[in-house]
Order: sequence, then C-alpha cells, then structure tokens
Amino acid sequence: MNKPYISLFDNPPNRKGTNTFKWDFNHVKYGREDVIPMWIADMDFAVPQVITQALAKRIKHPVYGYSYRSEDYVDAIVNWLAQYHDWPVNKKHLAFYPPGTVSAINMLINQLTEIGDEILVFTPSYPPLMKMVNENQRILVESPLIKIDNEYQMDFENFRTSISSKTRLLLFCSPHNPTGRVWREEELLEVATICRDNNIVVISDEVHADLLLAGKKHTHFNRLAAHLRPTSVTIISPGKTFNIAALSQSTLICDNKALMQNIQRQISTAHLSLDNAFSATATQAAYSHGLDWLNALLDYLKTNREFIHEFLSANLPKVVLVSGQGTYLAWLDFSAIRLSHEDIYQKLIKQAGVGLYNGLEFGDCGEKFFRLNFACSHELLKKAMYQIYQVFREF
Ligand SMILES: Cc1ncc(COP(=O)(O)O)c(C=O)c1O
Repeated sequence: MNKPYISLFDNPPNRKGTNTFKWDFNHVKYGREDVIPMWIADMDFAVPQVITQALAKRIKHPVYGYSYRSEDYVDAIVNWLAQYHDWPVNKKHLAFYPPGTVSAINMLINQLTEIGDEILVFTPSYPPLMKMVNENQRILVESPLIKIDNEYQMDFENFRTSISSKTRLLLFCSPHNPTGRVWREEELLEVATICRDNNIVVISDEVHADLLLAGKKHTHFNRLAAHLRPTSVTIISPGKTFNIAALSQSTLICDNKALMQNIQRQISTAHLSLDNAFSATATQAAYSHGLDWLNALLDYLKTNREFIHEFLSANLPKVVLVSGQGTYLAWLDFSAIRLSHEDIYQKLIKQAGVGLYNGLEFGDCGEKFFRLNFACSHELLKKAMYQIYQVFREF
C-alpha cells in the first residue's frame, strides 16, 4: 500500500466534539468516558480527499436552494456498479432514497406488507432490521444461521419450515452484518428459489457490498437471473464504503415494474426526489473518484482483521474471531469464557475499557458474542485487543 494512505489510516483525525455517536456518546452508552468505542459501524478514517474537495467546492457557492439529481450523479452510480462490480444495470431500474438504507427498508415494509404479516430475518441480525419488523407490528420470524467450522451458514431446512401462508418478506443482509459472511452465489440461488416458490419478496440490504477483504466476489441479489428469483430489491449505499454515513444516501435497484412505480410514487409523495446537495455531491465524488482510496482502505482493514485473528489465536484462544470475508466488523465468540454473557459485557466495559456491540442485540443467538468494529488505526486496535487480553486471560 502506498505510504500516504498508510499514514492517513494510521493517524485518523480526533472525532471528539463532532457529535459522533462513536466518540461523543460514551457517557450515555457506557456511563464513563474512558472506553475505546468499537460498537457503531462507521470508520475513524478521513474520507477520500476527492470528497472533501467536492464538498468544499459546493459549500463555496453560498446558496443551498432546492436541488435535483443530475444525470452525472446517476451515471456515477451506474459506472460504479459496472466497473467495480462488473454489473451492468439499467438506469430505469434505479431509485434514489436520500434518507438512507434503513429508512428505505422501513418504507418497503409498509408498502409490501400488512400488520400481522410475517417477515423473515436470518439471525444474528443487524438490530434495526428486527426492530423495524416489530415496531411496524409485523411478526418477526427468525431463521438462525448455523455455525459450522467457525463459519456461519444459512440453515435452509429451518428456513423452509419457518415459512407460512402469512410470510411476505425476507429482509436479507449481504454481506452479512454482524458475521462478515460474503454469501456464495449458490447460497443466494437457494434463497432465491425458496422465496420465489413461496411468493416472498426479498429486500437485500447490501450496504457492505464494496467492503470485501478476502478477494471474494460479491453477487448482488438482483443480479441473479430474473427467472431464478422472486420480486426483489437490492439496496446499496456509499455510506459504509466511503465513511459518509451522516451524508445519508441509498440507491434501490429493482426490475419489477409495478413495485418500481410504487417506490417512485412514495419517493415523489414524500418529496424525496429533492436531493440533499451535500449528500449528492459526496456520493457522486466518491463513486467517481474514490477507488484508489478504497483499495488502500481494504488492504488496511484486511491487516487489521488478520491481526485480530493472530492475536487471539496466539494469546487468548478462548475468544475466537468468527470467519468472515467482508465488512469491517469482527464477530467475536466468547462462548469458551467461563462467565455469563452479562459478566463478560460488564468486564469488557469496566475492566478492559473497550466498548463492543452487545451480541444479544443481534438476537438470542448472540449470547456470548460481541461485535468489534476494526475500522480504526492499527495502534488503537492493538491497544483494545491487549486490554481485552489482560482481563480475559484468566477465564
Ligand atoms: C446492514 C446494514 N444496513 C444498513 C445500515 C445503515 O444504513 P443507512 O445509514 O444507509 O440507513 C447499516 C449500518 O450499520 C448496516 O450495517
């Protein structure tokens, strides 16, 4: 990796005082300030300069009136999918949802299901997916993933038997948060076949699609041949990839005409065809010119992930990094530690001084698991791992 990038990632800016959940929220989340926060999924790193330069240029013009989405913006997304993912997408199949991915999924749940309908989610699951099902008074049906040889897999037998006449939707996460699994095409095809045969619409949340660490290929769900899959919507976002989550943006990809018309109607009614000028500027710059930065980032993240694995294997083998190929999230298995889940969590915070994401928030199967965000400097990661080691080596 070239030196300027290493230095950039080795020396992230101090984020304190910028109203970040990660660095300005310790007192609320953990009741103390001196915790290394490694829970929420954004990165400590400065975004690519091409983004700050584009934003600076836009800010310089002192009028921020209503703006629309330009053709260049749409082209930037289409080109990203074509060049980075080798996926030629028809522009007509894109819809833009500025409030972001979670908000888009919430809209789709309300469009596609009624109160009392069942919605499937593989667990452990990114918590907002489950929350949206519950808060919208739909019935959450969990299909637990199974861990085989330290890798999570979908349990298709369980998945099939979880389906009832009231099942309408699968909220799918690919690559998978929290485990980091990058699903193989044959796994996606099996999901697609089961859902197609049971008339279940698939919403595929693919915000981590650009973050592949092990040289794997990500297959977008909507890339599967139309006749092999059910009605489906793939959602992508530059938020995770380029660390611009607070400049919310998401793109929905859907080739079902009726559903697309419905989505466009919702967007228009809610005035979401207007664009946030800063979000649009950042998104376009990132997709158009952010590739070098992203390649360097992936190298850095890969080294961090390998470090966690090697450090734990050598020093604390009772805590295991679950095998994953994507995202900057490490799903840590503490099951061999002879303490209760709550005791582990409290020790992590109060003794190790490290704030991980509580595994139980990802479903009951998250007991004795914790999620660690390793999108930070090597130095901070080493410090956190060492502090965890010092507390848990005796258990
Ligand atoms: C799987 C997944 N989906 C969605 C989001 C949030 O996306 P957005 O900020 O676009 O709503 C996250 C953030 O962690 C995530 O991990």
